[in-house]
Amino acid sequence: MSSIQLIQNKSFVPKEFNRVARSYDFATTMSQGYQEDLNTSAKRLQLRGDEKLLDLCCGTGKSTRACLNELPNGSIVGVDNSEGMLAEAQAKFAEEVKAGKVKFVLKDAMHLNFDDHTFDVVFMAYGLRNMPDYEKSIQGIHRVLKPGGKICIHDYSLSNNLFSKIYWAILGYGFIVPFCSLLSGSSKIYTYLVKSVLNFLQPEQIKNLLEQNGFEKVEVQPHASWRKPILHSVIAVKRA
Ligand SMILES: C[S@@+](CC[C@H](N)C(=O)[O-])C[C@H]1O[C@@H](n2cnc3c(N)ncnc32)[C@H](O)[C@@H]1O
Repeated sequence: MSSIQLIQNKSFVPKEFNRVARSYDFATTMSQGYQEDLNTSAKRLQLRGDEKLLDLCCGTGKSTRACLNELPNGSIVGVDNSEGMLAEAQAKFAEEVKAGKVKFVLKDAMHLNFDDHTFDVVFMAYGLRNMPDYEKSIQGIHRVLKPGGKICIHDYSLSNNLFSKIYWAILGYGFIVPFCSLLSGSSKIYTYLVKSVLNFLQPEQIKNLLEQNGFEKVEVQPHASWRKPILHSVIAVKRA
């Protein structure tokens, strides 16, 4: 399946992540600021520390780590539909899983079958962009969140100007695709990454999507340094 076919049929994306699961942590460690940015987004949620959090599209658990730092008395359910990525996460958090603080579930994020109002918080890092239907995905998240619950969408979402698009294309095709393909032996998912970001919603569009689907107090914040035009956290509260 080509990267264009992946854009057209995103339900195959998790299977492509299986191919790169073992090299994923190394590749993202090489991406300066990757973990720090996740930590920043988790901090921006301003949690009490005892919440029940859904880490949607948790991958190998880098987002889980960021959320765990903010939840000394809380718990996390990590959901992902790639067996390979989840296996990496399971190994990393064996102690927390044993203690019942973290649980990982293989599941399609488009079909969340948790009860209504299960979670206090949903953290979705580099996830929404991979959903075949953004609105349906947000509606599913809205259903499983408690009234007053918080959502954080953390993703490559380009600011609304030509510079951001050109900047991302150069970064993507000039660095991310060649470097990560060499590292993982697979170029498809990284070419898909670059294309999917070019096709994704801008920060203000994510804000509108949330407001139109039952969320309020939406805050859009860019990340630091060279990621400023391309990476944002969008935080909102489910209307009570
Ligand atoms: C770029 S990784 C992000 C992982 C993690 N959140 C992080 O911040 O490092 C995206 C993850 O989304 C998962 N994913 C994509 N589509 C999915 C779907 N429909 N349901 C569940 N997981 C999905 C992939 O398997 C992959 O692990």
